[in-house]
Amino acid sequence: MTDKATLNIGDKSYDLPILKGSTGPDVVDVRKLYGEADVFTYDPGFTSTASCESKITYIDGDAGVLLHRGYPIDQLAEKSSFLEVCYLLLNGELPTAPEFAEFERNITYHTMLHAQFDRFFSGFRSDAHPMAIMTGAVGALSAFYADSLNVDDPKQREISAHRLIAKMPTIAARAFQYSQGRPFVSPRNDLSYAENFLRMSFSVPAEDWKPNPVLTRAMDRIFILHADHEQNASTSTVRLAGSSGAHPFACIAAGIACLWGPSHGGANQEALEMLQVIGSVDNIKDYVQGVKDRKYKLMGFGHRVYKNYDPRAKVMQKTCHEVLDLLGHGNDPLLQIAMELEKIALNDPYFVDRKLYPNIDFYSGITLRAMGFPSNMFTVLFALARTVGWISQWKEMFEDPQRKIGRPRQLYTGATHRDYLAIDKRG
Ligand code: COA
Repeated sequence: MTDKATLNIGDKSYDLPILKGSTGPDVVDVRKLYGEADVFTYDPGFTSTASCESKITYIDGDAGVLLHRGYPIDQLAEKSSFLEVCYLLLNGELPTAPEFAEFERNITYHTMLHAQFDRFFSGFRSDAHPMAIMTGAVGALSAFYADSLNVDDPKQREISAHRLIAKMPTIAARAFQYSQGRPFVSPRNDLSYAENFLRMSFSVPAEDWKPNPVLTRAMDRIFILHADHEQNASTSTVRLAGSSGAHPFACIAAGIACLWGPSHGGANQEALEMLQVIGSVDNIKDYVQGVKDRKYKLMGFGHRVYKNYDPRAKVMQKTCHEVLDLLGHGNDPLLQIAMELEKIALNDPYFVDRKLYPNIDFYSGITLRAMGFPSNMFTVLFALARTVGWISQWKEMFEDPQRKIGRPRQLYTGATHRDYLAIDKRG
């Protein structure tokens, strides 16, 4: 196989190196193309563009494969824990027992928020969307933890990473409790990451949240499934923001803002709301016809990268059944609609031809709703879990000696040079 591609433009030809990864498609290196040939490459939506070199996450969308540092997502979801996956994503290897104990201690140590930070929440309207609170509150961390903002210092980068992973559950639970008009619950160091988050979210002064191993495991697994996903829109946002040297709290706030969009992290809320709109198994046929007539999309279906069953959706579906059975919601009408809709879509040529399979959002909304979270919290939970992926990718970018500020170019189609006209000479 050749290690270069040749591009002919007019009567000139240019050799472009072909770079090989450890797996996945090769890339054509166009970095010198503009300098040599005075042309840009054009790829809106980045469907054919590798924006960076990375060793963290690998996706084979056709095969339905997702690997973190080489480990398949289903093995991690089955055998690992979210904090262990955090260590893996950040450091590249699974921890030894002493390494894990130290990491867990570090995260636990950072779960509290500065007391003045709590006053920040009361500035928001009580009906504020919790994602609006998350975007503001995470950005504001920089005002409280100024001692870890020097992005050129690896130790400070590490402390910021630990702070973000540790404080996200506390912030997310506060955003939730605030929206419910309930007092904040402080973290407890003797609880696991997921257990602590559930307790901070659901305990009220009159009644402490009662631990349940099935729900804790489900929460932990949902966090694992959302931990990282290669160079998606929000991760690319974090990298782009970070490429200017912006501090990590600002970069993660930018990632949260991007994640909020309905085509990205907002999809699980939309998927659940779609099931509620469908309302009954009897209405599915008409709803699917509306999708085919292009009136709306089937939310929780389709993916830019997966053109096969999303491997996370398989685990999510199993977790969904476990949680609903435990809570006695096995006959939840929304679950019945979801299962029937999935069956129809997986057999209908419209969806089969377009390779539209259920994605992770399809079953996560039903599960989270059964666990007691309102739909506007779904994206918040996604942001909480994805923080480790964002910060791992951000850290990797800083460790890359080839780091450059991100600066895409454009195909300009606007007006060319023209001279200013005074207002009385226009029109
Ligand atoms: N429902 C119905 N049709 C869909 C669809 C969906 N959810 N997703 C894609 N399609 C159709 C498109 O209309 C298009 O059809 P066409 O070729 O006849 O025009 C075809 O499938 C290809 O879609 P395209 O928009 O090119 O795919 P994409 O890779 O750009 O989009 C998503 C990916 C995720 C944005 C898109 O599938 C979507 O909006 N899904 C619903 C939202 C969602 O669940 N997002 C969560 C992702 S984890």
